[in-house]
Amino acid sequence: MADLGINLAGIRSPNPFWLASAPPTNTGYQVQRAFEAGWGGAVWKTLGDPIINTSSRFAAVHFGGRRVAGFNNIELITDRPLEVNLKEIYETKKRFPNHAVVASLMVEPKREKWHEIVKRVEAIGVDGLELNFGCPHGMAERGMGAASGQQPDLVEMQTYWVKEAATTPVIVKLTPNITDITVVARHAVKGGADAISLINTINSLAGVDIYSWNTIPHVAGKGAHGGYCGPAVKPIALNMVAECARHPEVGVPVSGIGGISSWQDAVEFMLMGATGVQICTAAMHHGFRIVEEMIDGLNNYLDEMGLASVAELVGRSVEKYSTWGDLDLNYKVVARINTETCINCNKCHIACEDTSHQCIERKTNAEGKEILVVREEDCVGCNLCSIVCPVDGAIDMVEIDEGLAPMSWNQRQKALAALNEAEMGVV
Ligand SMILES: Cc1cc2nc3c(=O)[nH]c(=O)nc-3n(C[C@H](O)[C@H](O)[C@H](O)COP(=O)(O)O)c2cc1C
Repeated sequence: MADLGINLAGIRSPNPFWLASAPPTNTGYQVQRAFEAGWGGAVWKTLGDPIINTSSRFAAVHFGGRRVAGFNNIELITDRPLEVNLKEIYETKKRFPNHAVVASLMVEPKREKWHEIVKRVEAIGVDGLELNFGCPHGMAERGMGAASGQQPDLVEMQTYWVKEAATTPVIVKLTPNITDITVVARHAVKGGADAISLINTINSLAGVDIYSWNTIPHVAGKGAHGGYCGPAVKPIALNMVAECARHPEVGVPVSGIGGISSWQDAVEFMLMGATGVQICTAAMHHGFRIVEEMIDGLNNYLDEMGLASVAELVGRSVEKYSTWGDLDLNYKVVARINTETCINCNKCHIACEDTSHQCIERKTNAEGKEILVVREEDCVGCNLCSIVCPVDGAIDMVEIDEGLAPMSWNQRQKALAALNEAEMGVV
């Protein structure tokens, strides 16, 4: 069996699956049950001055018959007194000394406020701190959460204040509601962050009831923007994790969050540079026991891949993720339809005819059967037909070797510039 243990900037846990700071980590009862179920760590529901929550606060986007493709909430940080949370964190850590218990913190951007909460939380023996500069609603209107996280200087300064007082590793949790996540990540690192975690939720409105005209959710007929998470946000989160992982000035461990629902999702985040992952919506949708399948799946996968530890996965795809200018413009794939498997539903033909490059033809074969055939010389390899095809294996995208040397846009520009210079007699 492979070693599933992780060490995120000094915070160790028996496996890479942590519960993210959210309703599943609200109390000691919940976190202890989660650890019993197999979760390797938990980031406690964000601590700070207790707030009052609204009644009616979650909504979901169901898509194509699947429940909870996306999840939306207008919940704030903990509504429980700090002393109660601290007592339960202490008890949890005592019962589960080898599991990671991280305290998520959010206070006003004042040095003494950060020092005070850091000292109180570390006194009861947490393994690390996560600074919540990410929640996009409610707390942001009070100058905290995403309102802090959208100002790189404030992130840097508050991280610095925390580091002045902290003795345990400090993770800075980033908001995705920003143009370039690496700017804030770099400022967090400048402030002394030992690690970063991302993403928190994305500004969103789950929907509008077209008969009552109320927002979804609404509170007595009024709505406010919420935070979006769940499977729908995974591609956004994965890109942001990869952008941070490959940025030379970030260079600290990453805890990947956003839409992770399976061991395969977790592996993707780790391949893109995350040391471990945090999960919220999937646990809220399916309960704590989903972690059993995640652990089994990851174990089997590592064995299948011949890897001795989960750490061997971290970052293995990062160098494959570059910029568009580095992509080989001479690489060519074309669609090939497998007539045996194809059910002749015509979806590929319509997609190609109406919205792509008009290169899938209907023909009658020698046995008089109608078949779909790709005119390969006109196919640009966009993948659309294979995406809309409802049958696995009916359309393959096949590489065509045209005997050309690799040539990216960047290489092409360089070659052209050199040619120009030569023509002008510079060289
Ligand atoms: C209802 C709800 C409450 C949340 N509360 C917090 C919070 O208190 N602190 C925090 O840092 N993130 C909070 N989050 C964000 C999650 O920790 C996580 O970043 C986000 O949900 C993305 O992960 P997911 O797609 O697995 O849900 C909350 C999310 C939800 C759905």
